[in-house]
Amino acid sequence: MASDKITNLRRLQEQAKLGGGAEAISRQHDKGKMTARERLAYLLDEGSFQELDALVMHESGELDLEGRVALGDGVVTGYGTIHGRLVYVFAQDFTVKGGTLGEAHAAKITKVQDLALRNGAPLIGINDSGGARIQEGIHALAGYGDVFQRNVMASGVIPQISVVLGPCAGGAVYSPALTDFVFMVDGTSHMFITGPEVVKTVTHEEVSFDELGGADVHTATSGVAHFRGASEKAVLDSVRILLSYLPQNNLEDAPAVAPKDNPARAEASLNTIVPEDPNSPYDVKDVVGNVLDLGSWFEVQPDFAGNVIIGFGRLDGAVVGVVANQPSVSAGVLDIDASTKAARFVRFCDAFNIPLVTLVDVPGFMPGTVQEQGGVIRHGAKLIFAYAEATVPKLTVVLRKAYGGAYIVMSSKHLRGDLNLAWPGAEIAVMGPEGAVNILHKKDLATADDPSGMRAQLVEEYRQRFANPYVAASAGFVDAVIEPTQTRAALINGLRMLQNKRDSVPGKKHATMPL
Ligand code: HXC
Repeated sequence: MASDKITNLRRLQEQAKLGGGAEAISRQHDKGKMTARERLAYLLDEGSFQELDALVMHESGELDLEGRVALGDGVVTGYGTIHGRLVYVFAQDFTVKGGTLGEAHAAKITKVQDLALRNGAPLIGINDSGGARIQEGIHALAGYGDVFQRNVMASGVIPQISVVLGPCAGGAVYSPALTDFVFMVDGTSHMFITGPEVVKTVTHEEVSFDELGGADVHTATSGVAHFRGASEKAVLDSVRILLSYLPQNNLEDAPAVAPKDNPARAEASLNTIVPEDPNSPYDVKDVVGNVLDLGSWFEVQPDFAGNVIIGFGRLDGAVVGVVANQPSVSAGVLDIDASTKAARFVRFCDAFNIPLVTLVDVPGFMPGTVQEQGGVIRHGAKLIFAYAEATVPKLTVVLRKAYGGAYIVMSSKHLRGDLNLAWPGAEIAVMGPEGAVNILHKKDLATADDPSGMRAQLVEEYRQRFANPYVAASAGFVDAVIEPTQTRAALINGLRMLQNKRDSVPGKKHATMPL
């Protein structure tokens, strides 16, 4: 091979690596941001990145007025490994025309989307972009449409992860929104449909970038994003951890690891973790942390709707998805946000063969006009739908309260729960003692000489008769009442018992879930 041809190739490769040039790279660094290539190098196993389409250029002549054509067209794409397992990646390169998306840029992304789907491996997209490249007009919009269509086709087939490490504005937000998990970094990530300027014009609100669409807003208030980190590296580290719990695609099981923890470990503290007073809170994360393999808990959406917690963990090395009511936040009540948060997670686990462990301590659905007018009926129905539809092994432990509709929702026997356990202090009934007594004895209490003494006595009688696990156990709705210390062993045995579970839903085009 003539040496000038090799030299020419090397020159092109070097030019491509520079993206928007040294000046733009240093502007990127000045903002505390890594470049697209630096991010991929950090995310992937060392030296594993294989780039595709490094020499792609846009074909829009209009763009060359300034005589600038960057090789790669503002996005770096390819594949590599994380923990030795294949992943496909794209990272928008803000140094090239603000990482904006035009026809060629979109085609590079859709190429890796197609490869990921065809080869059954996760796709990770790093977003850092000014959105649709204005000069490419309708072709930029078409590009977004092509990306969205593929996001949807890949949904439930391969895990899709979006890492927003810069601006992500306008319709561009919908690609991350269509994926399974969204990561953001404090300070530099922003997601919004319209920026502060447009907001000011339309609604006269004065709002900062952070207030409108920063990591805090989307992880704690809107629920759009699942994870946040203080730095880009912290965020990318979390992406690697998340992937260690996920299968490559919907036809595989999540990767089991050699167990490091004793499957029979019985944590004595569990027997006393639930306070004597049924209205006192406790932190359900203490239960989760003790029951799962030590150190394996990885919480998803930790800052959003804290009255329910969701996340991945391991039982004797096998991955499970955990959903647990959190009595220390709003008494663990189910509301709109908690319902949609849990429902989405249940569906993800079901799509990717991850067994579900549900820990129940729920007083019911949240009453009030805000919730009713906000559609708690519609949103609560999503959680019923998700559990009822799920065919993965479903293991449930009622720790304390399981009342009314919330009892049914939380992976009960009636929604095809496979193994339903209860602790001896469980209260499984139509409603709590106080509410029930007020309804059943309204007239007696109104005319009683000592209404509060009478109420206390009736509440106690109700508690004895209904607020226990034995009525449900006698009906077979609870398979076993267990000592709290036995929870870990019981769940591990249950998982083994269910490892060849097969179940299905009737053949159909798709269900009509109440969205
Ligand atoms: C073309 C763009 C651009 C765009 C930025 N640039 N956005 N070029 N189309 N949409 C260019 C800038 O001209 C500049 O080019 C370079 O990218 C860096 O931008 P700066 O403004 O200098 O950077 P910064 O100050 O960091 O601000 C970044 C920004 C801002 C917040 C993203 O550029 C911005 O607000 N852009 C517009 C965002 C937006 O509204 N996009 C359209 C959304 S609508 P030079 O040559 O100077 O380096 C949309 C529709 C999608 O995306 C629909 C899908 C269905």
